[in-house]
Amino acid sequence: MINPLRGMKDLTFDESQRFVHIVTTAITIAKRYGYGYIETPILEETALFKRSVGDSSDIVSKEMYQFEDKGGNDVCMRPEGTAGVVRAFVHAKLDRQPSKQKFYYYGSMFRYERPQKGRLRAFHQFGCESFGEGSVYEDFTIITMISQIFEALGIGFDLQINSLGCTECMPPYKQDLVGFLTQIKTDLCEDCNRRIDTNPIRVLDCKNKTCQSLLLNAPKLINNLCTSCDTDFKKLTVLLDKASIKYQVDTHLVRGLDYYNKTAFEFVSNEIGAQSAIAGGGRYDKLVEFLDGKPTPAVGFAIGIERIMELVKMPESVREGIYLGAMVDEAVEKLFAIATAKRKETKVTLEYTSKGFKSHMKGADKVHARYVVLIGEDELSNGTVWLKDLETKEEKTLLIEAF
Ligand code: HAM
Repeated sequence: MINPLRGMKDLTFDESQRFVHIVTTAITIAKRYGYGYIETPILEETALFKRSVGDSSDIVSKEMYQFEDKGGNDVCMRPEGTAGVVRAFVHAKLDRQPSKQKFYYYGSMFRYERPQKGRLRAFHQFGCESFGEGSVYEDFTIITMISQIFEALGIGFDLQINSLGCTECMPPYKQDLVGFLTQIKTDLCEDCNRRIDTNPIRVLDCKNKTCQSLLLNAPKLINNLCTSCDTDFKKLTVLLDKASIKYQVDTHLVRGLDYYNKTAFEFVSNEIGAQSAIAGGGRYDKLVEFLDGKPTPAVGFAIGIERIMELVKMPESVREGIYLGAMVDEAVEKLFAIATAKRKETKVTLEYTSKGFKSHMKGADKVHARYVVLIGEDELSNGTVWLKDLETKEEKTLLIEAF
């Protein structure tokens, strides 16, 4: 037997229903906020992720499914959705249109991580990207939208927010931070030591307990923001307060992807173990430019579908559609025309084998049908069907043409 690869899994039965419920709920809400569907290839040039997610990020430096294709191109299975959507946005010259553009997507992402509960190598995200709106109102609106998605799915969450500043306030802060980190260098872990040179901001995110306690005294970007970033961040907190969306400011929230500036956020759940981030996102005002487009402010997020699958409260399943069965062999083929006609309006389960009454009733129950429709000997000779509404328990006999 051939098994799925390590860290990859099939979604069948209960899980696939949860998957569809999550995606359809998220799509319904995203559409209300003006998002339209975008589909981009799973395979992209490796350079796309190096340039956008960042060469020194863990995702690019350690976790890429990267290989040379038969044409000798350096390609990579997408580890996330934003880079591909931005590339498509620039490729279609949408950056030259004055209107704002909003896209949603869902699909498989690939990261060669060490698999554990909630951490897969092939997983699914639902994401949204909003282009052309630089106002912090859009950041607030996106956070509100994610809250509504989680509310509709019956999922509780904690929201953590931070500001990563901009090209004005980030560089001097980075310098301050490197100065601080250099002083405590010998006590920091190996990873942090490497990051001081490659990506010092990521040191703040280290999960090592010793590092975390040493970093409590690190300078905070939030106290060193330029006027514009500071005003926007304060505005965001006021808007969230007014909307009664609870949040914590986490000054060490830096995100694992390099393209963010200003608002960064994560939704976490304390019910799913160590891999607790259920959604993440933020503003990335320089990425379109970075991928050779015209300067375009942008903000977005992605939800980890597998991580919320266990948390989702599924709606009560309702009886739906028609179960069609024959109790004599000669009646089986009578059912096809009925099935085709009824399938124009509802779900139909057609049993090909003639069986006894009880067997059919069990079959109808198994597929959770609302109506059971049977043709026995009498019905066959009279040109009728016997129908029972399994909800109201009402029964009747009808002419086939009248059904
Ligand atoms: P991210 O935080 O890397 O952001 O991923 C978003 C979500 O994907 C995470 O919060 C988590 O729920 C889920 N996730 C990530 N890695 C795994 C994994 N190995 N197994 C299962 N679930 C996982 C992004 O990907 C950004 N592109 C989000 C974004 C969109 N920012 C702006 N626009």
